[in-house]
Amino acid sequence: MATKKYINFLLFFLSLSGLTLQSLSWSPEREREYQKWVSWNVENYQKKTLLRAEAVTDLPAVGRKVLDPKLQKAEMNKVRMSVSHDGSGDYMSIKEALDSIPLYNTRRVVLEIKSGVYRYEGIRIPNYKDNISYTFQGSREKILIPRPLHFITFSGDSKDPPTITGNNTASVTGRDGKPLKTFESATVAVNSNYFVAINIRFENTAPHDIGSTGEQAVALRISGNKAAFYNCSFYGTQDTLYDHKGLHYFNNCFIQGSVDFIFGYGTSLYQNCYLNSIAKKKASLTAQKRSNSSLSSGFSFKDSVITGSGQVYLGRAWGDHSRVVFSYTFMDKVVLPQGWSDWGDQKRDSGVYYGEYKCSGPGANWTGRVPWARMLTDIEAKPFMGTYFVDGDTWLLHS
Ligand SMILES: *[C@@H]1O[C@H](CO)[C@@H](O)[C@H](O)[C@H]1NC(C)=O
Ligand SMILES: *[C@@H]1O[C@H](CO)[C@@H](O)[C@H](O)[C@H]1NC(C)=O
Ligand SMILES: *[C@@H]1O[C@H](CO)[C@@H](O)[C@H](O)[C@H]1NC(C)=O
Ligand SMILES: *[C@@H]1O[C@H](CO)[C@@H](O)[C@H](O)[C@H]1NC(C)=O
Ligand SMILES: *[C@@H]1O[C@H](CO)[C@@H](O)[C@H](O)[C@H]1NC(C)=O
Repeated sequence: MATKKYINFLLFFLSLSGLTLQSLSWSPEREREYQKWVSWNVENYQKKTLLRAEAVTDLPAVGRKVLDPKLQKAEMNKVRMSVSHDGSGDYMSIKEALDSIPLYNTRRVVLEIKSGVYRYEGIRIPNYKDNISYTFQGSREKILIPRPLHFITFSGDSKDPPTITGNNTASVTGRDGKPLKTFESATVAVNSNYFVAINIRFENTAPHDIGSTGEQAVALRISGNKAAFYNCSFYGTQDTLYDHKGLHYFNNCFIQGSVDFIFGYGTSLYQNCYLNSIAKKKASLTAQKRSNSSLSSGFSFKDSVITGSGQVYLGRAWGDHSRVVFSYTFMDKVVLPQGWSDWGDQKRDSGVYYGEYKCSGPGANWTGRVPWARMLTDIEAKPFMGTYFVDGDTWLLHS
């Protein structure tokens, strides 16, 4: 709490100096943004004075972190655009809206996406390393936010969130004649930093048949750093959420899948999330890929719920030092007594970090757990249980 207050104060304080410098050459649009900002600040003046006093006395000198300056600047210069299929918004598709934003954009751009289904069925040419990434085969396109397009927010209505849907799988042939592979199967792929999604439903509707191969079908791949997801849902079967790499925060999200449905190398905190297994037999919820014990990569789930069908491991070791922690999470009987899997490689037993802390429910019964699972102590659990796990002090604005 104190940290949040401190950040608010910092934003306020730093924004003052920033705006003075910029006010020399202003467009009418920016003038309006500025006026809005001023009235907001006037309204909040008293509150801020209080926060300021508390921020100074509340926090120990260490532990104080400065908000990322690039992010600060972007948030001060917010722009909004609306996307609606029915033509009532600024753009009719998410792609058009994204295309209108210049690369190396430095402002927060909020895409207000109206309720409805946004369907992207085409096959993307795998050129994710380039700046220009919107070339697609077929009449429709998938969404890929290229690496230099930072500070994008997708925002939907909490009562009727828009759906972004696709059905590509790893085995679908791309334009180059080769299979897309898991990486390219994503309905929405984000390569840029500071991405935010609020009230959005991400889908990959490709079915998964037991025993078949090449059916990995990603709904969302997040490869950018410092990304946050609030009130979002992710629907898929195998490999739903590719938490590829970077610092990520998920709050109040619903994630559904069958096999390895949260996977990757990300350093991520999942708070108040609902994990729903639709596995038909044995599967794993997570496949985390940390490769070296000195790296910060890992998934932490706090105050979450695990339920659904089939029998699932909490995690299986994709990387030799795979790291996953569940705390204060309700585990339904869908969780296998063993809890964790080394993916058939016993040398990983000593390398992985699989922890549980104060979880509840029939799936949290410790009796059948693999001996290399860790029942964490208070001190061991602590580093995983706050937004500091993802260095949130420097970039999380809404937590
Ligand atoms: C990306 O854009 C930058 C700046 O416009 C340019 O210098 C760079 O060559 C581009 N990269 C590619 C792969 O096109
Ligand atoms: C998130 O969803 C809850 C209902 O579950 C709603 O009350 C809240 O306003 C939503 N948050 C945002 C940012 O829309
Ligand atoms: C994806 O959907 C399209 C039509 O909506 C269908 O033609 C295609 O077979 C589907 N592909 C897969 C892999 O399910
Ligand atoms: C792990 O990372 C450390 C620090 O970067 C490095 O010294 C070490 O060689 C790495 N170990 C392996 C097995 O890659
Ligand atoms: C945990 O599982 C064991 C073995 O199945 C059972 O005997 C025990 O009653 C369970 N404990 C709880 C608290 O449910």
